[in-house]
Amino acid sequence: MWGMERESFDLPEGFWLGTSLSAHQAEGGNFNTWTRWEELPGKIKNRDQSGDACRHWELFEDDFELLRWIGANTHRLSLEWSRLEPQPGQWSNEAIHRYRQMFESLRAKGIRPIACLFHFTLPIWFEDAGGFENEKGIEEFLKFVSRCQKEFGDLVSIWLTMNEPVVYALAAFGAGLTPPGKKDISLALQVVSNLFEAHGRAFAILKNANPSYQISLAHHMRILSPERRFWPLDFLFVKKADAIFNWSLLHFLNTGEVHFQVPGICDLKRRVPEAVGALDFLGINYYGRDYLSFTPLSEEKIKLNQTPNHLDVKTDMGWEIHPQGVDKILHGIKRYGFEKIPLVMTENGIADHDDDLRSQFIYEHFSNFLIGCKKYGLNAKGYLHWSLLDNFEWIDGFYPRFGLFEVDYKTQKRLPRKSAHYFRGIAEKKCVFKPIPG
Ligand code: BGC
Repeated sequence: MWGMERESFDLPEGFWLGTSLSAHQAEGGNFNTWTRWEELPGKIKNRDQSGDACRHWELFEDDFELLRWIGANTHRLSLEWSRLEPQPGQWSNEAIHRYRQMFESLRAKGIRPIACLFHFTLPIWFEDAGGFENEKGIEEFLKFVSRCQKEFGDLVSIWLTMNEPVVYALAAFGAGLTPPGKKDISLALQVVSNLFEAHGRAFAILKNANPSYQISLAHHMRILSPERRFWPLDFLFVKKADAIFNWSLLHFLNTGEVHFQVPGICDLKRRVPEAVGALDFLGINYYGRDYLSFTPLSEEKIKLNQTPNHLDVKTDMGWEIHPQGVDKILHGIKRYGFEKIPLVMTENGIADHDDDLRSQFIYEHFSNFLIGCKKYGLNAKGYLHWSLLDNFEWIDGFYPRFGLFEVDYKTQKRLPRKSAHYFRGIAEKKCVFKPIPG
């Protein structure tokens, strides 16, 4: 196997081991920008709608028992803004109460909660007022952050200000695949920079409220490769895309500066002094590799290929399984001088209905994370698997199955997959070991 001489790898002392979920993908019964998007024809595969999702809003207590069963000591969830503040300035006591119950339940089970303040969904009133397209949106978000700190800050000490700002902005404002469905790269980059600023300022608000909080954001990092290996334009394009997609956030956190320069599209600069060093750990979401092509004279100039033909083994979504990428990402992180910042894999997972690949997938990614951190002198602090349960996979609807536990959406029964047993073994042995095939 790639780069591995040993077959088991001890978890460092105090390691955060657990899973991640997001509100809209699991809770059910939400009413937000995505609910509205799901109603539009052609937006979601098989015309699925999130609907009841996993009914996690009611079943959270049982679900957290599953966490205990697999031996997790950490769980990441997100706070659904549209539930907490359904109308501007009107907060729901019921929603506050329920999230408090969730955090209390986790803590009572010895599981540290991580609260993410923005995971792709927004209140409709916020998006209709321009959302993160403008400065007003940043201010509104900061009010939300501050209120969440007041409501939950005695139960939560680890915060993610947001999930994947670059992915959110590019999908929602560049590719037009997710709400609000705009197709304007320059606007998308403007939104990225607004979100970076929002992160820096949210970090400051939380830190001022309680200096012992550990605060970060979850940053999606991917390996980007040229689709046509001998086509220079693909190479140049990949270089630019990699700089923006993977590394602009790290540059921003080091310097407080954003500079997006795309010839003929935008030249955008911003300085946010409070963002310098605005992280106590770095959250990395890693899934795999994409192939990019750039053909300026074609109608669709840029193509992103996530489902290459040349692979023998793929996830159910056709994505490449590329654990080697973890090493490349860590190497890059080292180059940005992040040796002292603890690293947490805040998401890593696979759509694998039959569960034939998941345990091996976890083994290869998790061990590469531990090996790479050692190799580059980085601090491996946590691994959170995506996901505890099967859940609503955005534009792909319910068919991708990412859970350690299978969800029967008709009965809402949860069933442990083989990989849930494997994960439990990791927690028990406190080491990542090669799974037994079959
Ligand atoms: C997102 C999750 C999503 C997962 C799998 C991540 O980028 O944060 O919400 O379910 O990818 O596609």
